[in-house]
Amino acid sequence: TGQQNILTEKQGNVAIVTLNRPKALNALSGALIQELLQALKAFDKDDDVGAIIITGNERAFCAGADIAEQKALSFTQAYNTDYLRDIVDSILAIHKPIIGVVNGYALGGGCELAMMCDIVYAGEKAVFGQPEIKLGTIPGAGGTQRLIRAIGKAKAMHMILTGENMSATEAEKAGLVAKVLPVNEVLPAAIKAATTIAGYSRPVVAIAKEAVNEAEELGLRNGLHFERRLYHSTFALSDHQEGFGAFLEKRQPQWKHV
Ligand code: HXC
Repeated sequence: TGQQNILTEKQGNVAIVTLNRPKALNALSGALIQELLQALKAFDKDDDVGAIIITGNERAFCAGADIAEQKALSFTQAYNTDYLRDIVDSILAIHKPIIGVVNGYALGGGCELAMMCDIVYAGEKAVFGQPEIKLGTIPGAGGTQRLIRAIGKAKAMHMILTGENMSATEAEKAGLVAKVLPVNEVLPAAIKAATTIAGYSRPVVAIAKEAVNEAEELGLRNGLHFERRLYHSTFALSDHQEGFGAFLEKRQPQWKHV
């Protein structure tokens, strides 16, 4: 199955998926989405991989849904194809942490794709926006739901109703982005962070990701309860014995990922 719209590679225990439709600013065609989801699922199952990076190029992370492809769809076709549900559900189901590395445009579905990542690093020239309103539609892959959780209602509503973009610096201040770095430093920094994450116990990393993501779904009481249950469950891992033992013995832990 040749990949036409993405590139994949591994650097150590880090998998990198690069969106690669530069002529359309990495717009999310159906084909690109299928390749992206297939790659993510494969890396999620790959024992050598401890963390996954999704990135684009300097000009664009992703300019959103493929407008040319979407233009032709009727309601029924859009509803039946449901590639939005596909992408949202599939990315949510990935156990391993995903770092989005955003340079250039992250617009519409591109901003939503960035928000589906667990951590976002941005280059100084990155631009985030939900310009769907200008096209006569609204965000369809989490924009109205995730943006408000990331940056609050005031800024989310403003962006979604005006279609105005947000710079990388603003996005970092607002809480959409973990780090902003010079363009040529952002991917290496993300690989470094991903390598650190990939160096920890895989099941513990997956459990931590799951616990944090549940915070979006649960009220505080239930969230704390869920966290405590997961916390206790880590005591059953041999990696937990190893981590605590190694600290007390003043040595580096050797994770077995079980
Ligand atoms: C298809 C796109 C595209 C897109 C850009 N291109 N964005 N093709 N779908 N979303 C194509 C252009 O048609 C053009 O092709 C080439 O990429 C370069 O783009 P230009 O517009 O010439 O570049 P520039 O003038 O630098 O402007 C960059 C831009 C602009 C500001 C990012 O391209 C733009 O506004 N794009 C649309 C962004 C957008 O509205 N996204 C939301 C989509 S709706 P040619 O062949 O002319 O060179 C959405 C709904 C959410 O995402 C659904 C969830 C998945």
